Amino acid sequence: FVHCQSRRDLDIFHNAAVAVDADGKIAAVHRDCPSLAAAKTQTLAELGWAAENVDIYTTKEAQFFFPGFIDTHIHAPQYPNAGIFGKTTLLDWLEKHTFPMESSLADLNKARKVYTAVVRRTLAHGTTTAAYYATIDVAATNLLADLCRAIGQSAFVGRVCMDRPGINPDYYRDASPAAALRATQQTIDHIRRIDPGFDLVAPILTPRFAPSCTSEGMKALAKLQKEGAYLAQTHISENVNEIQLVHKLFPGTSSYAQVYDDHGLLTPKMVLAHAVHLTDDEATLIARRRSKVSHCPCSNSSLSSGAARVRWMWQKGIEVGLGTDVSGGYSPSILEAARQAALVSRHVATAMATADADEREHCKLTVEEVLYLATRGGALCLGLEDRTAGFEVGKDWDAQLIGLGRVTDSGLREGEEYTANGHGSGAAVEAAGMVPALNGCDEGNVDIFGWESWDEIMAKWLYSGDDRNTKKVWVKGRLVHARR
Ligand code: GUN
Ligand code: FE
Repeated sequence: FVHCQSRRDLDIFHNAAVAVDADGKIAAVHRDCPSLAAAKTQTLAELGWAAENVDIYTTKEAQFFFPGFIDTHIHAPQYPNAGIFGKTTLLDWLEKHTFPMESSLADLNKARKVYTAVVRRTLAHGTTTAAYYATIDVAATNLLADLCRAIGQSAFVGRVCMDRPGINPDYYRDASPAAALRATQQTIDHIRRIDPGFDLVAPILTPRFAPSCTSEGMKALAKLQKEGAYLAQTHISENVNEIQLVHKLFPGTSSYAQVYDDHGLLTPKMVLAHAVHLTDDEATLIARRRSKVSHCPCSNSSLSSGAARVRWMWQKGIEVGLGTDVSGGYSPSILEAARQAALVSRHVATAMATADADEREHCKLTVEEVLYLATRGGALCLGLEDRTAGFEVGKDWDAQLIGLGRVTDSGLREGEEYTANGHGSGAAVEAAGMVPALNGCDEGNVDIFGWESWDEIMAKWLYSGDDRNTKKVWVKGRLVHARR
C-alpha cells in the first residue's frame, strides 16, 4: 500500500492488509507484518466476529494499492472534444469548440452517451472523485448527477451559470440572473432528492468565469453559498486576453481575484482553476480567504495559457489540487496531470529570470509532491480530507490497484513466452516481435526488473504508467472498474 504522508514523503507499507466494512469504510489496517498471511490473520483477529462483514485487501508482487485520484476540475460535456483544440487559445477555443458542444448536450440522448463515457473513462484512470462542470441545461446536468450515482463515482456536479449577454453567445446563456439562480436551485434540489446526505454526489455552485457572469448573478450565488454551505468553482487568470477582458468588464476593480472577492465568492469553499498569471497581491488575497487552486497543467500547455507556479502558490499558503480540465486538457487522466505538473514545474524553473540555482532547483516538483497534489491536495481543495485520499481507519475505501509489468530473466513479461511457429531458425526472432501476452492482460509501459527500490517504482509508474496499469478501482468500497 502506498499513500502520501505529507507533500514531501510517501508512506509505503509492506505485508499489510486493509479491512473494509459494509459501508465501504476502512475498518482496520495492519502493516509491516512478518508476512502477508500474518497481516491477514492480525486484521481478522482485530475485527473478531465482524470479519464476515468485511473485505480484506492484500496485493500480489508487482502490485500496490494507491488512493483514488481526485480531479478538481473537469468539464464533462467537453469530453468529445478531448484533443481537438488546434492552435486556438482560450477565448476563440470557447467560441469555436466549447460553446457549440456544450449547448448541443441539451439533447438528453447525446448527454447520456457523453456523460456515461466520461464517468466510465475517468474511473478507468483511477479518478474516484471528480468536480464536474456540466452545462447550463438543468435536465442534462441532473442526468450527469444520476449517472455518477448509478455508475458509482464520487462527484460534485455543477450547473454552469453564464448570465451576461454580449459575452456569452445568445444561443447558449442564461436569460437573466434570476433564471440562472432558479436553474442552479433546481439542480441542487434534484441532487438532494437522489442523494439526501450528499454522500456520493453533491452540488457545486458554478459561475463559469467572471466574464460570463453579471455582478447580480455572482452576488446571488455567493448568497446561496452562504446559506447552503455549498462548494463553488470557477476559473481565474488563465489567459492574458481573458484578464484584459475582466479589466474591461469590471472597470475600477484592481484585479481578477478582487472581482470575485467583491462579489463574496472568495471563500474557503471556492476552487479556482488555473491561476496561471496571478499577481503577488492576488495570491496573498486568495491565501487570506483560504480559497483553493486547481492546477491544470495539460490544459495550460494545450491552450498556450502559460505555466502556473505551484511552488510559489504553496509558499504563499494556498492549497492546490490537480485538474484535467477536459477538454482544455486533452487527457482524462490525473496521472497524466501529475506527470505534466512535474514537467511544467521544470519549465517554470528554467524560465526564472532572477533566481539563483537553489531557488530554481526548489521550484521543481518531486514525484512525491505531484502524487500528493493528485490525492491529498485535491481532497483538501474539495473539503474531503477527512473522507478520502489516504489509507486511514474511518476513511472511505476509495482506491486503485496498480499492476506493473514484471520482466523475467528471458526479458519477456511474466506470463509471456515465445511461441514456436514452425518457420525454422529465423523464426525465434520473428516470433519475438509478436510475443503474445498469455495472461491476456497488457501491463502497459512500466517494466519492472526486480532491482528497483519502491521509490523508483513509484517514479516509473508516474512517468510511464497509464490506465493499463489501473487494474481495479473502488469507490466507497464498491468495485467500479476492473480490467480484463
Ligand atoms: N474559462 C471559461 N470557460 C472555460 C472552460 O470551459 N475551460 C477553460 N479551460 N477555461 C474556461
Ligand atoms: Fe476549465
